[in-house]
Amino acid sequence: MKVGVFDSGVGGLSVVKSLLDHKLFEELIYFGDTARVPYGVKDKNTITRYSLEALEFFKNFDIDLLIVACNSVSAYALDALKEHSSCDVVGVIEPGIIATTNALQNRDSNILILGTQATINSNSYVNLLEKNSYLNHSSIATSLFVPIVEEGLLSGEVLQSTLHHYFKDVTTPDAVILGCTHFPLISEQISNYFDNSATLIHSGEAIVEYLEANYSFCKKYDHTECKFFASENPEALRSRAREWLNIEV
Ligand code: DGL
Repeated sequence: MKVGVFDSGVGGLSVVKSLLDHKLFEELIYFGDTARVPYGVKDKNTITRYSLEALEFFKNFDIDLLIVACNSVSAYALDALKEHSSCDVVGVIEPGIIATTNALQNRDSNILILGTQATINSNSYVNLLEKNSYLNHSSIATSLFVPIVEEGLLSGEVLQSTLHHYFKDVTTPDAVILGCTHFPLISEQISNYFDNSATLIHSGEAIVEYLEANYSFCKKYDHTECKFFASENPEALRSRAREWLNIEV
């Protein structure tokens, strides 16, 4: 099984981590559109155009499945990708909602949705939560976390003051949906901010659960052959992959 994983930048590596931990694929091709990150501040047309261009890249690799490891793309361009792709395309939002509803039995649970401006503006999480009768939710576009993660500032002063900037008036929620694949890389700091008492929903873990439940091809492979590509400075992406995933690439 050969899987393609697409994100605007390095955030999708948090999804790759879950895929590798669960040994789901034999080969993995990652593409980060690092020349044009961030996507989350762009509009639907631009995100769709960039995503369809990324799809062209994956056509060189004969992949069996494309995982859209980007919430902003999942929110705005999933239908377009599905329409133009010859293989299945899976986004992270529906799996994230399933993981949330599995984690929270109580429909009055207070849910905080974090995402980029694009993901929050799309209302994708809100609409699906409400469809499942979870009405106690609030959303914050925490777009600054994206460049902070791209810069590798995964702890320290800049991150702490940004957490404070976004969360100073927020009451500790029951669950936080990390609606951007960059955010799991700072999940410990987000969790600490809320005294480690909120359940965090992680796109990577959610998609693993989703694939295992819906795709019978999911087996366990001892080794996943990974290749990392980027639209700009692929070596920087590979170096992040080595550092965060602890693999040879
Ligand atoms: N990691 C992406 C997401 O899940 C995109 C972040 C960005 O490019 O703004 O939304």
